[in-house]
Amino acid sequence: MATTLADALNEVVETLKKSENFVRLVLSGRRRNMETPSERIDVKPVLIKGEIKYQLSQSDGRAMTTKNYSPNEFIELGLLDSGFANIHLEEKSQSLSIRITKKGEALIHRAPGEFAADLSHDRNKSRLLDAADPYLIEIGISDSTGKVKPSKNDKYLQVEEFLRLLVPSLNSAIEAGHVAKPSPSSPLTIVDLGCGHAYLTFAAHQYLKSKGIPVNVVGIDVRESARVRNNEIAEKLGISESISFRAEEISETTLKSADVAIALHACDTATDDALAWSVNSDAKLILVAPCCHHDIQAQMVETPEPWSMLTRNGIMKERLGDLLTDALRMQIMKLSGYRVEAIEFIGGEHTPRNLMIRAVKTGAIADSAEEQRYQEMAALWKVKPALAALLNR
Ligand SMILES: C[S@@+](CC[C@H](N)C(=O)[O-])C[C@H]1O[C@@H](n2cnc3c(N)ncnc32)[C@H](O)[C@@H]1O
Repeated sequence: MATTLADALNEVVETLKKSENFVRLVLSGRRRNMETPSERIDVKPVLIKGEIKYQLSQSDGRAMTTKNYSPNEFIELGLLDSGFANIHLEEKSQSLSIRITKKGEALIHRAPGEFAADLSHDRNKSRLLDAADPYLIEIGISDSTGKVKPSKNDKYLQVEEFLRLLVPSLNSAIEAGHVAKPSPSSPLTIVDLGCGHAYLTFAAHQYLKSKGIPVNVVGIDVRESARVRNNEIAEKLGISESISFRAEEISETTLKSADVAIALHACDTATDDALAWSVNSDAKLILVAPCCHHDIQAQMVETPEPWSMLTRNGIMKERLGDLLTDALRMQIMKLSGYRVEAIEFIGGEHTPRNLMIRAVKTGAIADSAEEQRYQEMAALWKVKPALAALLNR
């Protein structure tokens, strides 16, 4: 239904004034010829010292920031009319979506429903992993009193956020038939490539088991000391039947297959080895958060114009190199029959390496234009991605 933009925005403001009804607001997309203050804004009511505040969360593409406002202060920020193309509002008994067209018209969609506000402040975000769980103490994330060690807090949060994405990704892949439903006789197989001290490996095993999902997990790391340490911990925890470790190069691992491949900060081209292994072994779901990106950086010798505007600045060249690496990786995955997305899996304050590539094997054959796009990009920068070499592209 089309209506005037002013009327539509007014309706949202009226709802925002009634904090007892307000559940959630999301501002996203960009209106034609307009700049938005950030990529996306999420707003929810939170209870702080007995008062309702509106908590605004926004990302600048690297870090997430949150700030609390009284309802009136929030309305006075004028964000509803600050260039966003989509406004999604949930109140207790209905949702209202407004899409602002190129002509500045408001297309409104209303849907009845029951929505409940979660008034908890983000600092109280429910923990997925209980820091006092014995395995977290054994692997060295928590101290002997069950508290996360300050030096391990970032890793603990990275692992937790990784799992927050793994579980729904897995459930959707199972529902869509891309991954077979696991059973005790045919457990889900997961490999963690470049597992290091296996914080993620153990957490994935323990968390999925706690959710009743039968799993068999293998951690691969080139370091023999990691294999010995991790297998000893598995033995001590009495879980070595369903979790084990091998000291192998990813590219030469003796592991033949896995339903799910994960990798958290596998160094430089070890991420390419992980992706190549996954494609060649027909892994159905892949979640990798790459680490440093030296391969393409080193190949970015000649800059095609007008890109020197960016590359003459060291930090921008480095970031562009990171993006180019991951974009090329994603395109190769797409051309290999995967549906691929890039996700910011954790706020930048916990690691600057916070991009995750998620790929689901759908078998879809990519359009020839996608192959051309890939070839053009590689030719433009005169680069040959490690993943392309590994997959003989
Ligand atoms: C930065 S650490 C990350 C470890 C772990 N995933 C984590 O997030 O705590 C990278 C790990 O990858 C391992 N690694 C690097 N290149 C590898 C390769 N080609 N094959 C196997 N392991 C590799 C290293 O030994 C190291 O333990």
